[in-house]
Amino acid sequence: MPSLGYHKAMKKRTKVLIISGSALGVIAGIGFLSVYFTLLYRYKGRQVDNTWSKDDPFYLASVKTLQKKKGEDFVILNFADIQLCDLEDTFTKESVHRIMDKLVSEHKPDLITLTGDQTWSNENLLSLRSILRWLESYKVPYAPVFGNHDHGNEFSSAVAGLNYCCDLYEDSPHCLFSRGPTNIDRLGNYPINIVEEGKVVKTLYFLDLGYFDSISDKQRDWFCYTADGIENELGYAPEGMMFTHKDFPSFRNAYKHYLDGSAQNSGDVYANGGYSYVEEDGFVELAKQHGVTDFLCGHQHWNNFTIQDNGARFTFCLKTGPYGGIYQDDSLTLSGGTVITIGEETKITHHLAGA
Ligand SMILES: [Fe+2]
Repeated sequence: MPSLGYHKAMKKRTKVLIISGSALGVIAGIGFLSVYFTLLYRYKGRQVDNTWSKDDPFYLASVKTLQKKKGEDFVILNFADIQLCDLEDTFTKESVHRIMDKLVSEHKPDLITLTGDQTWSNENLLSLRSILRWLESYKVPYAPVFGNHDHGNEFSSAVAGLNYCCDLYEDSPHCLFSRGPTNIDRLGNYPINIVEEGKVVKTLYFLDLGYFDSISDKQRDWFCYTADGIENELGYAPEGMMFTHKDFPSFRNAYKHYLDGSAQNSGDVYANGGYSYVEEDGFVELAKQHGVTDFLCGHQHWNNFTIQDNGARFTFCLKTGPYGGIYQDDSLTLSGGTVITIGEETKITHHLAGA
């Protein structure tokens, strides 16, 4: 008959085998998913032909609208650079989810905007689906633009390709995203009108500067066509707000002018993270001539300000995700969102919501 010591040894050996087996199973599972998602399969999505020409007739009815109640503020909450990766952020994504929940419940937005880099790395399938599930749960309309990381590590290298991301966005009931024209070198350019008692009080333009450091000529033409079309049909030019992922050089100039005292800030100003090298080439001036008074972007996680400069206001939105974002002093890496309140005037404020 085996001794008590023998039983104990067998029990210990079985336990070690179970733990080792489970650990190996988890490692093999992660390995399999890594290979599957990063090497074996790409989700290409629907190939849509939405060819546009500047000679096409413009239809105001084709622009999605949101209603603002008279005498009440219309609140937009922006999430910037959520930047989740399928595998690497498995254990951090819930903290991002909590930050988003907190901001939504505090500010009760009428619209949520997302200034790009919703995901990062090639592994963007599970993370984007999670983000869409969270956004849908708020039952609030939302409007994203693409960021450079939404394209993957390199241009078009993401597991969920840009067309597939367009499909996911367009198929989500509360999402106002439209892939827009498919022949202007970018996907995801679209306007939204905010209407109060039949009057358009704001036109929001979402432009995909995502992976690129320039705005394409065709994209510029499409913007002018859209802004002119809205103005011609309405008989007036509504004030515009432009959402892009990357910053134009005008953001850097606004900061310079803030430093020399010739530009006005509202709230704190943090600019520690450098700037993008987007070729502006007169586009900001062109947009201003078409009624745009606000430019909002993300991308530089360490920059966060709202500065009025040279006839427009430039806002680096506060980043929401876990990466970068030194705020207040160099020891803090904090996250939050940006709130745009459209009332008698339009105010922009930044709100921390977690470390
Ligand atoms: Fe970015």
